[in-house]
Amino acid sequence: MRAHIPSGIDFRSPHVTVTPAEAASRAARLLARPAVINGLTVPNRIAMAPMTRMFSPGGVPGEDVVSYYARRAAAGVGLIVTEGTYVGHDSAGQSDRVPRFHGDEQLAGWAKVAEAVHAAGGTIVPQLWHIGMVRKAGEPPFADAPAVGPSGLRIGEDEPTGTAMTRSDLDDVVGAFAESAAAAERLGFDGVEIHGAHGYLVDQFLWSGTNRRTDAYGGDPVARTKFAAEIVAAVRERVSADFPVIFRYSQWKQEAYDARLAETPEELEAILSPLAAAGVDAFHASTRRYWVPEFEDSDLNLAGWTKKLTGKTAITVGSVGLDGDFTKAFQGQGAPIGSLDNLLDRMERDEFDLVAVGRALLQDPQWAEKVLAGRFDALAPYDAAAIKTLS
Ligand SMILES: Cc1cc2nc3c(=O)[nH]c(=O)nc-3n(C[C@H](O)[C@H](O)[C@H](O)COP(=O)(O)O)c2cc1C
Repeated sequence: MRAHIPSGIDFRSPHVTVTPAEAASRAARLLARPAVINGLTVPNRIAMAPMTRMFSPGGVPGEDVVSYYARRAAAGVGLIVTEGTYVGHDSAGQSDRVPRFHGDEQLAGWAKVAEAVHAAGGTIVPQLWHIGMVRKAGEPPFADAPAVGPSGLRIGEDEPTGTAMTRSDLDDVVGAFAESAAAAERLGFDGVEIHGAHGYLVDQFLWSGTNRRTDAYGGDPVARTKFAAEIVAAVRERVSADFPVIFRYSQWKQEAYDARLAETPEELEAILSPLAAAGVDAFHASTRRYWVPEFEDSDLNLAGWTKKLTGKTAITVGSVGLDGDFTKAFQGQGAPIGSLDNLLDRMERDEFDLVAVGRALLQDPQWAEKVLAGRFDALAPYDAAAIKTLS
């Protein structure tokens, strides 16, 4: 009998047992299924979460970045979402070591990444990023560029210290996202992910804490979604109809873990519906712990609600494989919160479609291959030192 989590009751029942062989075959059965996102078939349900690495001097991903991604594709990651890459707008970023998704040299570097990932049997989408008001003026790659955002406000500030974007600024940024998406398709990528999460530019519009505009881009949740929806529509217009467009969003912000875009499923629906209508094929609902219920009276996590409300493909994420309890259920000790069994239960119920793995995949490039093969004993425990290298 496989371990089963009674919702909200007892996550650590000592009565449930499951043999390692049963656990392995269940993991393989559920995670090895292909997933479809618009015209793309992802070979399995494991995605690599986007992770900024800052190993691309001049914004150019080099050979080490190529092999970093290819290594993970060769070891079973079905879909790679690249680290955030700056779109072609001078205020988009603040590091010369973060890759860019514009410029000849930068795009030539990315073409090699896509080619190597495909040769290894994987699929890959770049994450397109503008950091907005997170930018500190004077920082590279374009030192003179101002910090821009919906209202010129940084998280936690009451008074603007940056530039509130004009209509023409909005058009420029929308155009920059669309341009990078067109480049992604031209270079052979399998889709794009728009970074609308974690308190960066697109999320600064979505969230009332940073969006105080009184024009059509501010006010209620639907108005605050207008900028994001314009980006999605512009991207959609520049790429083929079957080219996947993924939108990543979060309740939490980098500088405000407790912030929320939506307090109720109705508010969430008001935000997600215009994005789905504008052409999003899949939502990547970023949470810090995938097992935390998003709203009262339901076990569904944020990805679960996203799928339920939009009917779109949903990707979950958050602390998968980091807990020491991750495979404990397979030793006859129940299905602890955060365990692989908990994740598989949710996947079996179709709560979400894919699972993105971040830090565990930095630690262990072979993580996906080991989980798909049920070699749980071989998983390397996470150590924060893994963030420092590009191994
Ligand atoms: C080093 C590092 C860099 C990250 N950079 C990005 C990023 O560029 N874009 C993004 O959307 N999320 C970024 N994240 C968040 C991850 O995509 C992911 O949501 C988070 O790490 C939780 O997943 P995990 O618990 O499996 O690591 C980053 C996380 C880490 C650890």
